[in-house]
Amino acid sequence: MTEPLKLGIAGLGTVGGGVVKVLTEERARLEAMCGRELEIVAVGARNRHHDRGFDIDQYRWYDDPVAMAGEPGIDVFVELIGGSDGAAKLAVEKALSTGKHVVTANKALIAHHGASLATLAETNGVALQFEAAVAGGIPCIKALKEGLIANRINRVSGILNGTCNYILTVMEGSGREYEDVLADAQKLGYAEADPTFDVGGIDAAHKLTILASIAFGTMPDYDQVYIEGLEKITPLDIRLADDFGYKIRLLGIARRNGNEVELRVHPTLVGKSSALAAVTGVFNAVEFEGNHVGPVFIEGRGAGEGPTASAVIADVIDVARGNIGAPFGLPASHLDGADFKSIEDHSGAYYLRVHAVDRAGSMAEITKALAEAEVSIERIVQRKDPIPEEDNRLPVVFITHDTDEQTMQRAMALLAQHKDVVDEPLLVRIEQD
Ligand code: HSE
Repeated sequence: MTEPLKLGIAGLGTVGGGVVKVLTEERARLEAMCGRELEIVAVGARNRHHDRGFDIDQYRWYDDPVAMAGEPGIDVFVELIGGSDGAAKLAVEKALSTGKHVVTANKALIAHHGASLATLAETNGVALQFEAAVAGGIPCIKALKEGLIANRINRVSGILNGTCNYILTVMEGSGREYEDVLADAQKLGYAEADPTFDVGGIDAAHKLTILASIAFGTMPDYDQVYIEGLEKITPLDIRLADDFGYKIRLLGIARRNGNEVELRVHPTLVGKSSALAAVTGVFNAVEFEGNHVGPVFIEGRGAGEGPTASAVIADVIDVARGNIGAPFGLPASHLDGADFKSIEDHSGAYYLRVHAVDRAGSMAEITKALAEAEVSIERIVQRKDPIPEEDNRLPVVFITHDTDEQTMQRAMALLAQHKDVVDEPLLVRIEQD
């Protein structure tokens, strides 16, 4: 039998604790499948004395992840600390430069520094694996790098943040406000250490950056992602969108057209009968469009202990089996720069919700303002019933025909100052099936 594969695990939070537990539980079967013993030799975290439900004294303890990463007695450094910089980055660089394989769930690190870390890994002939960084337990990186390798991929999109999907779909089912549901998601271990990364769309943008780079063979470039979070979506919008036949989901959308690439993360109206509308709770889903295979859709849990540990361990097994290609599929030196499309050049249909002053003629005035801004309206609905009678606001929704983004932004500016509009209007892009 080949030498045992020795693992050092830095970070013992929800994910790290899950990796230790699942690896312990599945060890005999996994060792048989990769023909190699899998041995956790070292662990470390900020607090040694926290009760994690397993005995840490059987492993060497490290307070300092960089020291663990430089330790000659480990083969694979499993980085589950998180954060794009600081200790996680230093430790990963140390591990790669001292010839260790790295497995990480750190999407921020890979989205911001993926190209330089991939170069470091390739130079040192070691693996840099990050399946758990994208969509939790869904093997979407493996799908792109292996199962779909014959295809040119022109579109990758999907629900990439479990916390947001949990919040939106619990709001959908219960009418509760998002802050309230977010607190549940935090308790369940779905949310990031800083949950504004979830609700602000940043976490989904990290994941989209990584997927797009592998799918299109381009340099990972987080700064090119257009990002909007879900903070402005209210239970009322979810209900009004439903009246028009839509659900609201926070989507990541990456498209390539020749050398032009668009990357955007924002709340999106999707048709009620679409596959994405059926994705609820902490589940994520990723859709690929390959030129030979056509559309491929995969769905699974995007956050939490078991799903993320599942992905981390799959990467460890790839290392144990010697299945370690270039981190982004193409060698780092072959990744191209792309021309990124600005959100200002987007065009499509929109959901526009305003609170009109509840008086005769206000709707006509608002519609006139939209006509002046050259917004072509497909459908209008006004709906008083969720708003108390004594409240002087009347929710009105416009669904537009395909319109360009700059026109819509001009219309939003006009409406924000309109005498018949109270509160900030809300604009949500519609993605047709
Ligand atoms: N906070 C993330 C989510 C965890 O909710 O999807 C997995 O990356």
